[in-house]
Amino acid sequence: MLVTGRELLQDAHKNGYAVGAFNVNNMEIVQAIIEAAEETNSPVILQASQGGIKYAGIEYISNLGKVAARKAKVPVAIHLDHGTDFDQVMLCIRHGFTSVMIDGSRFPLEENIAYTKKVIEVAHAVGVSVEAELGKIGGTEDHITVDEKDATFTDPQEALRFVKETDVDYLAIAVGTAHGVYTGEPKLDFDRIKTIKELLNIPLVLHGSSGVPEESIKKAVSLGINKINIDTDIRMAFAEAVKEFITNNPESIDPRKILGPAKEAMKEVIKEKLHIFGSVGRA
Ligand code: G3H
Ligand code: 13P
Ligand code: ZN
Ligand code: NA
Repeated sequence: MLVTGRELLQDAHKNGYAVGAFNVNNMEIVQAIIEAAEETNSPVILQASQGGIKYAGIEYISNLGKVAARKAKVPVAIHLDHGTDFDQVMLCIRHGFTSVMIDGSRFPLEENIAYTKKVIEVAHAVGVSVEAELGKIGGTEDHITVDEKDATFTDPQEALRFVKETDVDYLAIAVGTAHGVYTGEPKLDFDRIKTIKELLNIPLVLHGSSGVPEESIKKAVSLGINKINIDTDIRMAFAEAVKEFITNNPESIDPRKILGPAKEAMKEVIKEKLHIFGSVGRA
């Protein structure tokens, strides 16, 4: 069933687990996520980045999500990942997304607050939940590039002010993770997660979670992370399975045969994540 992000994340916040938010670009990824969620009885978030929306088209991506959510036996939210501007958010709301992220992390605090507030006013008026970002998460995405050295962690007092002034539903914080593949092992600032959680008492979001060791994820969840974004680990499973199939079956031309094993491989990765996040049986 289709639900808002707020519904899912408030339950996770109250009960101390995290909901997986997985990036989608095509039908096979959507199906892998939904099947993994149904098989483990987990709530789940399907999220589309602006790059994903550009690739598939807003109609295809939103309708894939809605069909999947409505058919699903578990609660599903459809979320815009790293929305950078007001128009993008409005487009997604218009197409039935139940949650949006407005990423104003490139702005100074005051501007980030003002920008986020404007989006929240409209989104909340139509029952759509909002995620914002404070601090700078390392790594590269389609639209925002942050040098890892310049990545600045979220300041707890700034976060408190941000939440009070914006009334944001959940906040993405920078605590040492980075988008994409890690070169070394990521070091998370657990004390910072704990401090921010105690001050804010709202659901917190961890980006760049692919490649973070299981124990670190579990600890982050125990300290107050309630939404965990995963993209890269799914991409890797997809690419490896496609390459392996093509290497072993160079004569195959059937997209279903080529993508079928990739879907299964993604599903296995997602199921593993759902166990780590503690969302199994929470649907
Ligand atoms: O955080 C970004 C996600 O990994 C989406 O990446 O912009 O290449 O779709 P993308
Ligand atoms: P990863 O690609 O590191 O999993 O990060 C995903 C993400 O944060 C999407 O917003
Ligand atoms: Zn992200
Ligand atoms: Na990562």
